[in-house]
Amino acid sequence: MALSDLYSNLQLLLRWVHVLAGIIWLGHLYFFNFVNVPFQGTISPDVKKVVNPLLLTRALFWFRWGAMATLAAGLALFTQIYMYTPGMGFGPSELFRAADGEVTGRALWIMLGMTLGTFMWFNVWFVIWPAQQKILRGLRDGVPASPALPARVLVVSRLNTVLSGPMLFGMLAATHYGGFNLVTALVAMGLGAAALWHVIAVAPRVGKTL
Ligand code: HEM
Repeated sequence: MALSDLYSNLQLLLRWVHVLAGIIWLGHLYFFNFVNVPFQGTISPDVKKVVNPLLLTRALFWFRWGAMATLAAGLALFTQIYMYTPGMGFGPSELFRAADGEVTGRALWIMLGMTLGTFMWFNVWFVIWPAQQKILRGLRDGVPASPALPARVLVVSRLNTVLSGPMLFGMLAATHYGGFNLVTALVAMGLGAAALWHVIAVAPRVGKTL
């Protein structure tokens, strides 16, 4: 690839930022669900008061900004790949719409992944983070937040964890699978969700001792 090929070099850079940020985001999501939720069940309220504001404030910082950077780089990638053609400008590219006018399989896969990813991003910024702020402020000030808040965070965080499975199938199938068909899409959704659901279920039982 020539260094002067700005289009390709920019795309590689955006892909790298996108996947790196996605790892930061999902890494923290999995830490919360596989490690922290079982851990919280084993410590006393006094320990929570000391540990949680210090630990979770930092973890939530990387979590929410990882989500934001993933979305931003993902949307930039989508624009560059599917809504821009070098030398012709902006508008659906041939990777989005084939010569026969049909939306391509690659575009359908990525739009499936993007829909799930954007929904997860929304949950991070507009459900989980506002509720966690209230919970942590309550711990810090000694005024417990409404018990509905931890329950809401848990449900939505688990939902995001389960959705991350099918979401990643969408991200990967776009470039590594080819044509879109309903059966494969449904299998990918079911398999992806079931795998993550299973990990959530076994997480409290594993890794407790050396
Ligand atoms: C938040 C919403 C997201 C949007 C809008 C988005 C968008 C995109 C786009 C447009 C592509 C390029 C597809 C192509 O080349 O045809 C892509 C690829 C990819 N995305 Fe996302 N994505 C999102 C979330 C995530 C997350 C959370 C991860 C987790 C790590 C992720 C991992 C990947 C991977 C691994 C690829 C494939 C890279 C490659 O094969 O070169 N994405 N994404």
